[in-house]
Amino acid sequence: MTNDLCIGVIGATGALGSEVLALLAESSLHVKQLVPIGTERSLGQEIEFRDLLAPVETDSVSLRGLDLVFLCAPEAASMKFAQEALRAEVACIDVSGALCESPDVELRVAVFGVPAASEPSPLLVAPPGACLPLALVLRPLEEAAGLRRVTGTVLEGASSGGRQGIESLYRETVALFNQEEPPDPTVFPRPVAFDCGPIAGDPDAEGPTDRETRTMDALRRLLLGDAGVALTHVQVPTFIGFGASVALETERLLDPTLAEAVLGKAAGVERWDDPIDGLTLRAAAGREEVLVGRVRQDPSCQNGLLLWITADVLRVAAANAVRLAVGRFGQHH
Ligand SMILES: NC(=O)c1ccc[n+]([C@@H]2O[C@H](COP(=O)([O-])OP(=O)(O)OC[C@H]3O[C@@H](n4cnc5c(N)ncnc54)[C@H](OP(=O)(O)O)[C@@H]3O)[C@@H](O)[C@H]2O)c1
Repeated sequence: MTNDLCIGVIGATGALGSEVLALLAESSLHVKQLVPIGTERSLGQEIEFRDLLAPVETDSVSLRGLDLVFLCAPEAASMKFAQEALRAEVACIDVSGALCESPDVELRVAVFGVPAASEPSPLLVAPPGACLPLALVLRPLEEAAGLRRVTGTVLEGASSGGRQGIESLYRETVALFNQEEPPDPTVFPRPVAFDCGPIAGDPDAEGPTDRETRTMDALRRLLLGDAGVALTHVQVPTFIGFGASVALETERLLDPTLAEAVLGKAAGVERWDDPIDGLTLRAAAGREEVLVGRVRQDPSCQNGLLLWITADVLRVAAANAVRLAVGRFGQHH
């Protein structure tokens, strides 16, 4: 049986798709054909992938004959491609978030276990961006001592709005430096340069925003018990990066030293104890691991811990997707 794969990447020219391609190129998978897919905007571009040079295609290309597609385009487009791929009997890994709210699908985190190649599901759905780094840190702690509740503030840089989010922060910043009126926000609902605010989505009058709901629901699904979860998402004016200040209460006592030992062994996590170089959003840029530090006792409750987490969400999401692909297709297909 051969394991030379034909792989499509939907959204190959975007922030997430580029990371998936970069990590796919470094992976052990044998790829004999790459089909990068974007919009008409990218027609004429060619993607360099190992020794292949693949022209960008659009939605007019057929997925038939491919072994696997990564869905990395905005959700509506990813959903359409998912349907087409399933009709064409092509396996899919959804990294876009398009399918993550469906209660029928299991959210897949490769380091928690990759479905066996014999498991027939053609669709693997990754958790949404901000949920994954939190799950990678919290689940090992939960396994060690049980979790009663998790509360925290999640900081999201402009990369959460994709390539256009990064460009939008850049244009705003340049305008403000030049003492010009910043352009009207298009990607985010309000200006983001030199400011912080709750991430709007469609907040209902009193409740969480849709973004917060999505992260909390996905996190609850990935945790093993029934811990209460409450998170606030805040937009911060960094170009890339994710940070989270998290307070958690465990069922059994887990002192900071033991928690650090657990995190030191957790897959996909790197404990950060350098006292000089700060644990910043920038420190996580380009890393596949989630960084965690400042593990300390929470004096406000029994069995409480406080943590600071940073991650390059795009890189972490891409690494998870590629690990899922390696787990599924690494041996045979
Ligand atoms: N940014 C994050 O931190 C992050 C993390 C995890 C998941 N996600 C999710 O991943 C998805 C993509 O995010 P991103 O940040 O990579 O966005 P992005 O930088 O704006 O990239 C979007 C990509 O999708 C392509 N695309 C757009 N519409 C398409 C269509 N109708 N058909 C085919 N391709 C289409 C674009 O092609 P062109 O370049 O040709 O326009 C581009 O390659 C979103 O659903 C996002 O929520 C994002």
